[in-house]
Formats: sequence, C-alpha cells, structure tokens
Amino acid sequence: MRLTPEQRAQYDRDGFLILTGFVETRSCDRLRARAEELVRAFDPGRVISIFSTKEQNRLSDDYFLNSGDKIRFFFEEDGFLPDGSLKHGKEGSVNKIGHALHDLDPVFSEFSRTPEIAQLIADLGIERPLLLQGMYIFKQPKIGGEVTCHQDSTFLYTEPAEIAGLWFALEDATLENGCLWAIPGGHKLGLKSRWVRSTEGGMKFEVFDSHPWPEGKLVPLEVSKGSLIILNGLQPHKSLANRSTKSRHAYTLHVIGGDCHYPDSNWLQRSADLPFRGFN
Ligand code: FE2
Repeated sequence: MRLTPEQRAQYDRDGFLILTGFVETRSCDRLRARAEELVRAFDPGRVISIFSTKEQNRLSDDYFLNSGDKIRFFFEEDGFLPDGSLKHGKEGSVNKIGHALHDLDPVFSEFSRTPEIAQLIADLGIERPLLLQGMYIFKQPKIGGEVTCHQDSTFLYTEPAEIAGLWFALEDATLENGCLWAIPGGHKLGLKSRWVRSTEGGMKFEVFDSHPWPEGKLVPLEVSKGSLIILNGLQPHKSLANRSTKSRHAYTLHVIGGDCHYPDSNWLQRSADLPFRGFN
C-alpha cells in the first residue's frame, strides 16, 4: 500500500491520517496474544512494591526512565487496592508495556519491520528512519486511565521535529472505550513544551507556550480494528478514560528521521550496546 498524493496532502494539512484496514485481523490477534503472553510471564512482585512503598515516586520514575531499552510493565493508576495489591490481577490491571518492544521481542520486531510500514515511512518523507519506541497499550475496561492532551514531540523531541507516531488499533476504538482525539491542523500550533532530564536528576517541563489547548477543536478518531492512525509528533491528541466493559488495545510505534539531532536530555535513552535501529 502506497500513500496517494491526496493522503499525503491530508496528513500535511491535518497532522494525522487514518488508514483503515492497514493491518490484517490475524496480525492484530497475534500481537494481542503475544502481549498477553508477556504479561502472563511477568512477575509483578517488585513493581507492585514500587507502586506501594513511600518511595514510589522516585522508584517508579527510575523504573520508567530506564525503560527506553527494556520491556517493562506499567499499571493503571486505578488498578490498585489500598493495600497495594492489584484489583483485577496483573492481566486486568496492566496499562502498558514499553518501551523497546519493537527491538527486544521477536513478534513485535517482525510486526514493526514489515515492508508496508517501511514504505509508509518513506512515503512520509522520513529518511534513514530509526525506530524509537514500541509500546503496547491496553486501555483496560472500567479502569483504563485518561491521557490528557499532549504532543509526542514533548516527550520524544528531535531537531528538526521529524517524528511520526504510528497507532495501530488492535481492537475497535470508539467513543465508548476511549478512542484517540486530535485537532485537525493542530500540528501547526508549534511545540508547547519539552519534558527534559534535569541536571538535579528526574524530569522537568520546559514550557514554550503556556496557553491551554483549544480542546473544543478536538475531534474523535473512531477507528475499526486493523486501522492505523499516523500522528505527526506535533499533533495535539488525547484519549478519555475507558469506563466501558470493552478494552481498547493498541500498539504504537514512533519513528524518527536518522539525520535529526536526538538530545541526551530526552527521557528515552538507549545503552551503547542497544542503539536505535531502522527497518533492517
Ligand atoms: Fe501520544
């Protein structure tokens, strides 16, 4: 599948593009089964202790901040009972798996490196692409948390801002189960902030524009299973909490241009023995 000139123009105009039926049903199901296998094999003992001790902020921050070259598991905020145990077991409480699934897991690596995805990235004009982040999002029934309006370039900053977020719907994403929302043309509003590693340790926001997002302009992106939503890194987007009985699984892959400057102050860093890779 090649992007048509009209689709390319639409992406440039809106800052996002929906490709219905980009992924075959069986590939969606394979990723889903693999994610479930990973969760089943994961021993959450230490993570639960991270979320339930007094030092939870520092330790959970380290667990997150060092996950750029690992496969780690993050839980829903509403997934815990007061004693720190998981309300719905690990399978029903996991929020996401990140952030190097695309390199470290063979099933996700194969999915992320299909010729179709490589061609799509080439059609978007991203040269010498590098695969930055692979993340599996569960958006659990009842407890799936809200993700407030943000730009991915805030967290995955490059100079110039040449980054595409690929959001693969592994199930139907609807208003009911917390689909994405985006602002048509919102990528032209400029980068509002950057999340940078501070010299004192931890992270801080560097704010360039403190105006609130024009959230009235957000439109819901309801898509069917197998659809791909491409998001420009500067596109403001959000998703509401999932209070329905249906999950909303998605796999996201972020790709950057290999000639861009990728600062050391970004949260996502890789060790020297696991550098960013392209589609090969
Ligand atoms: Fe995002």
